[in-house]
Amino acid sequence: MMEMQSVLDLIGHTRLLNLRRVHAGPGRLVAKAEFVQPGGSVKDRAAKIVIESALWDGSLKPDQPVVEMTSGNMGSALAVVCAVYGHPLTVTMSEGNSPERIQILEQLGVRVERIPQVDGRPGQVTGSDIEAAIARAKEIAAEQGAFYVDQFNNPVCAEAHEHGTAPEIWEQVAGQLDAFVACVGTGATFLGASRFFKRQRSPTLCVAVEPEGAEVLAGKPVTKPQHKLQGTGYGRIPPLWEPKLIDAAIAIGDEEAEKYRELLAKREGLYVGYSAAANVAAAIKVLTSGKFTENATVATVLCDAGWKYS
Ligand SMILES: Cc1ncc(COP(=O)(O)O)c(C=O)c1O
Repeated sequence: MMEMQSVLDLIGHTRLLNLRRVHAGPGRLVAKAEFVQPGGSVKDRAAKIVIESALWDGSLKPDQPVVEMTSGNMGSALAVVCAVYGHPLTVTMSEGNSPERIQILEQLGVRVERIPQVDGRPGQVTGSDIEAAIARAKEIAAEQGAFYVDQFNNPVCAEAHEHGTAPEIWEQVAGQLDAFVACVGTGATFLGASRFFKRQRSPTLCVAVEPEGAEVLAGKPVTKPQHKLQGTGYGRIPPLWEPKLIDAAIAIGDEEAEKYRELLAKREGLYVGYSAAANVAAAIKVLTSGKFTENATVATVLCDAGWKYS
C-alpha cells in the first residue's frame, strides 16, 4: 500500500454503502459514508478545496489566521486542514449547537467563540442564530487580518462535490442512478453533486431534503424554524442556490429523523447524525413514490456520525 503524505489524503473517495437492512425494496438505496473522513463529516471535502485553492491563488498567505462561522462540522474540517498547512483557526459557533462540538474543536487546537442564540434553543439553531455567528466571524476576521472562509458565499465549496462526491457516486453505481437526495445547509453538497448529475446523459432526479416547517426550497413559509436537523434547514434559501438544479423537495420531521437514526444504528450498525437520517428517510420516500421501477437506484449522503449530538 502506498504511504499517505498527510491526513488530507484520507479526505474523499468514501465507500458507497447499500442500506438494504433499512430498505429492502422497492429499488436500491445507497449512501456515501462521509462520516469516515478525518474531521468526521462531509465538510472535509469543502474545507480541503477552500484552503488549497486560497493558498494556490494567494488569497491565503502562509501562517495567516483563518476564521469561519460553523455549526461544528466545517469547524472540525477546517481544523484538520489548517493543522496540516499550519494556519491558526478561530471559529464562531451558535450556543445552540451541542457542547460536544466545542470540545472536539478545542481539542483540535481551534479557538472557539460561542455566540448567544437569537431565537433558537439548545439543539435547534435558526437562521437568525447563524446570522449572529456570521456577523461575529466577520468582525474577528477584520480584527485578525484573517482569511474568512465564508462557506455560505464561497463557490469553491460546491466544487468539492461537483468534482469529488458526485463523480465518485457515478462510478460506484456504474452510471445507473435514478435519483440523488441531499439535505441543504450551505447547499454545497446538493448543488455541486446535482450540477455533475445533470450533465450526464441519463437523467438523475435531484431531490433536496428540508426540515418540516422550514421548507423554503419548496416555496413554503417558515412555520417551524427550530428543528433537529443541525447543519441544515436555516429557513432561508442559501445565497448560491441554483433553482434549475432541484427537481423536488421533501420535508422530514424531527420524529422521522429520530426513527431513521435508530433504525440505521440498530439494523445497519450506522450511528449517524440527524441530517444523515433525514437523507435516508427522504431517499426511501423517493424509492416508494411509485415514480421508479423495482430496479431503481437512489443515492444519498451520510453526512456525519452521531457521537456529537446530545
Ligand atoms: C451535519 C450536517 N449535515 C448536512 C450539512 C449540509 O451540507 P451543505 O453545507 O453542503 O449543504 C452540514 C453542513 O454543515 C452538516 O453539518
